[in-house]
Amino acid sequence: MKVPRVWQRGSKDMTAMPHPRHRTAKKPMWIIVLLSIVCVSLIGAYVYPPRRYSTCYFFASSVCTPFKDWLPAVTRREPTDQEVFSSVVIRDLLSMPMPVSKKPKIAFMFLTPGSLPFEKLWENFLQGHEGRYSIYIHASREKPVHSSPLFVGREIRSEKVVWGRVSMVDAEKRLLGNALLDIDNQFFVLLSDSCIPLHTFDYIYNYLMGTNVSFIDSFLDPGPHGSGRYSIEMFPEIEHRDFRKGAQWFAITRRHAILIMADNLYYRKFKLYCKPTVGRNCIADEHYLPTLFKIVDPGGISNYSVTHVDWSEGKWHPRSYRAADITYELLRNITVYAFILILPINMICMLYTDSTT
Ligand SMILES: *[C@@H]1O[C@H](CO)[C@@H](O)[C@H](O)[C@H]1NC(C)=O
Ligand SMILES: *[C@@H]1O[C@H](CO)[C@@H](O)[C@H](O)[C@H]1NC(C)=O
Ligand SMILES: *[C@@H]1O[C@H](CO)[C@@H](O)[C@H](O)[C@H]1NC(C)=O
Repeated sequence: MKVPRVWQRGSKDMTAMPHPRHRTAKKPMWIIVLLSIVCVSLIGAYVYPPRRYSTCYFFASSVCTPFKDWLPAVTRREPTDQEVFSSVVIRDLLSMPMPVSKKPKIAFMFLTPGSLPFEKLWENFLQGHEGRYSIYIHASREKPVHSSPLFVGREIRSEKVVWGRVSMVDAEKRLLGNALLDIDNQFFVLLSDSCIPLHTFDYIYNYLMGTNVSFIDSFLDPGPHGSGRYSIEMFPEIEHRDFRKGAQWFAITRRHAILIMADNLYYRKFKLYCKPTVGRNCIADEHYLPTLFKIVDPGGISNYSVTHVDWSEGKWHPRSYRAADITYELLRNITVYAFILILPINMICMLYTDSTT
């Protein structure tokens, strides 16, 4: 799965202007016919504004810019009821002060099929920082066996997770919901069973607590595994040009975690129309949050994630690091731009499934 980061926007929205076909009639007749076609098109486009993103935006073309000013209804759209309801909630959520915590904590949320192989490593990382972190585990396949007392009793109620399905997003939301119950949790980090920390606790803690930006991977991928997974049923609330992609691992602020709890409009669109089975092979957890935040708070996210996954092999699964690959130099390279490394052990990092689909 190649994910080129192409930042240009909207080039796909414009298709060529339809050309009136050549007529064989004499010149005056030809002009009258041409004028009629233009008039009918103008009226038609005004009365029936394009409803689909892919329809030619007749008046958006640079050739026709003079017409744009006196035909505003063509490109503008009335918001739907759901959009109005959603936008007022989100607007106030983004501007209202958040409750201040005296002892802010980071919530480490582990999304895993079962046991966590690196508990001992995390224990070393967390030791001496009691009261500044909390742990939540969503084990979707089997009850984990713990090797560190810090992880005992930290499981939340879980449900089955199937790769590519919205059940992955539901598990993320379940972790967020449980972590939000503790008012001291101020930053929420989603991790898998194959994640290891690359920096000290203090470094990560100070970095996250010192920002009000959420680290959510979000980019425009114009290819078939990106924008090609958009389905028109998501229109009008989600437009093709707003459809984004990103790896699911995030580190987000409390405000954004609450925003995710509050969103029903965009979540429903993904639940209904982003599935691996409906032809477009849409993977909900790779598109829901990147697209949601592109629409509701694009300036509030970094557009990149603080977890490192190597997609450079261009396959469905990220690169697997074997023991021989883990050198000091590799870790130092990754540490330069990431906090937490995801080791896709047995290829189950983010792409595990509970049932083979
Ligand atoms: C986020 O923090 C920056 C400074 O670090 C500040 O300028 C900005 O207004 C803050 N944004 C919000 C939404 O609080
Ligand atoms: C993230 O991308 C959006 C567009 O998708 C842009 O509006 C926003 O400014 C970007 N954020 C940062 C921090 O670059
Ligand atoms: C580390 O980065 C350097 C420079 O980008 C590169 O030449 C080297 O191959 C990298 N090493 C590993 C182990 O990835």
